Amino acid sequence: MIIAIDGPAASGKGTIARALAAHLGLPHLDTGLLYRAVGAAALETGVAFEDTAALAALAAGLDPAGLDAEALKAGPVGEAASRVAAVPAVREKLLKLQKDFAGQPGGAVLDGRDIGTVIAPDAELKIFVTATPQARAERRYRELARRGEAVTFEQVLADIEMRDARDSGRASAPLMRAQDAVLFDNTGLDRDASIAAALALVADLAGRR
Ligand code: DC
Repeated sequence: MIIAIDGPAASGKGTIARALAAHLGLPHLDTGLLYRAVGAAALETGVAFEDTAALAALAAGLDPAGLDAEALKAGPVGEAASRVAAVPAVREKLLKLQKDFAGQPGGAVLDGRDIGTVIAPDAELKIFVTATPQARAERRYRELARRGEAVTFEQVLADIEMRDARDSGRASAPLMRAQDAVLFDNTGLDRDASIAAALALVADLAGRR
């Protein structure tokens, strides 16, 4: 069974995807980490966001086994990830790796922006996770504060709104709810309640299949 979880920044899709994968005993891929790794590499090596050929080369050379999720979750990396993710040649280089992961014999859980639309359009279960920009900014703000990053709530909200606009507005595989994806708005739900609701949703959907 392939489960596709998509949604905007800080919607809680990663938390839900991890919980579902653990519950169902399936491997999980956070595809945002791939774009974050390319974004971080661009920042480190000084490659300009306009240099699409060099960005594509960084994506082609990515070692998915060596990703440090904790380091890649830092604030500036998200913005860089969103920028490199708008480059079609970068998406192209990351396609096979994601499709292969989704195609594992036992199934898999993937989360991102285009899993239900591009990476695994035939996924048995698709969930589009969302929440209001304010709710998502509050979560991200708390997370960054916990990590000791000096940001204001207003900065975080502005960053989220800018990333929403870029991720949804780009021409190549934009953030979009697949027609057959279930919409799950978790505004007002805390982490545990959101996970519980998502597990109930999956049980319900699986029961109807
Ligand atoms: O989910 P995240 O915040 O870690 O993702 C970081 C950026 O990567 C996001 O702003 C857009 C991009 N992304 C994408 O374009 N497609 C995906 N499947 C996953 C992430």
